[in-house]
Amino acid sequence: MITAMVNNKGGVGKTVSSVNLSAALANRKQRVLLIDNDPQCNATSLLLGDMIPENTLYEMFTEGIPVRKCIYPTEFGVDVLPNAQITSQIEADLYQDTAKSYSMLKNMVRDYATEHYDITIIDCPPSLGLWVIQAMSAADGVIVPIEAGSRFSLDGLASIYTSIESIRATKINKELRFLKTLVNKVDMRTSSSKVIIEKIHELYPGYVFKTTIPTNDAIKQAEMARTTVLKYDPQSSGAKRFRALADELMELIKNDTNQLDLLNG
Ligand SMILES: Nc1ncnc2c1ncn2[C@@H]1O[C@H](COP(=O)(O)OP(=O)(O)O)[C@@H](O)[C@H]1O
Ligand SMILES: [Mg+2]
Repeated sequence: MITAMVNNKGGVGKTVSSVNLSAALANRKQRVLLIDNDPQCNATSLLLGDMIPENTLYEMFTEGIPVRKCIYPTEFGVDVLPNAQITSQIEADLYQDTAKSYSMLKNMVRDYATEHYDITIIDCPPSLGLWVIQAMSAADGVIVPIEAGSRFSLDGLASIYTSIESIRATKINKELRFLKTLVNKVDMRTSSSKVIIEKIHELYPGYVFKTTIPTNDAIKQAEMARTTVLKYDPQSSGAKRFRALADELMELIKNDTNQLDLLNG
């Protein structure tokens, strides 16, 4: 199962969710790969610290280095396919041949990831451009983190939904699914959080994770200390919710497979 973390808005928690959900899944004995498809490399530097990887997505894309040589284990039990800032420099070139570029990540990693990992999470940059289209081309489903504090997050969700539909319609990935929205930065003391959570369930019934992520200082501090909230403060509300989210996602995948089994007789 390959999922892309998508939201063209920055700061909503794509990276925090990719990293902490991956770590929580690894703690649940899942084989997890995190692909850092954002040339800003936040997930890479969080997971690898000061280690400078020899091969990254850049070498994979430009020199054709096979994916198995671009993956590194981390202290969090998650394997990472890192990015490098220099990758941003090839984006314009890649737009010269979009048919090829859109399917590049899929062609180079999908089979390997599906064979070697239970779950692959692709962290994406804050756009709906090339890197995100690549990720959606390679993925089975999309998770959209949104900020509970912002009333614009609901408008944004509609445009992401449209772009998923166009990925399907243009046959870049006919099977791509909108998995669920993840409501992040929830503060139940504020009315805006409550209003947005109600509204989103009303607009997208069945497509919202029951588990929400609170605004939690431990999450932020863990990021500064370049670690996961699960390691930094295992008893924090942030850590608890990411464990619950991992369980909810595993359940979702299991039920999904059962349904597929039924359909396939
Ligand atoms: N639930 C949360 N509680 C506290 N801080 C958070 C939470 N989610 C995200 N942050 C902080 O908000 C900032 C943006 O999060 P990030 O995951 O980098 O967003 P994105 O990848 O979508 O741009 C980071 O500084 C991060 O530490
Ligand atoms: Mg990010």
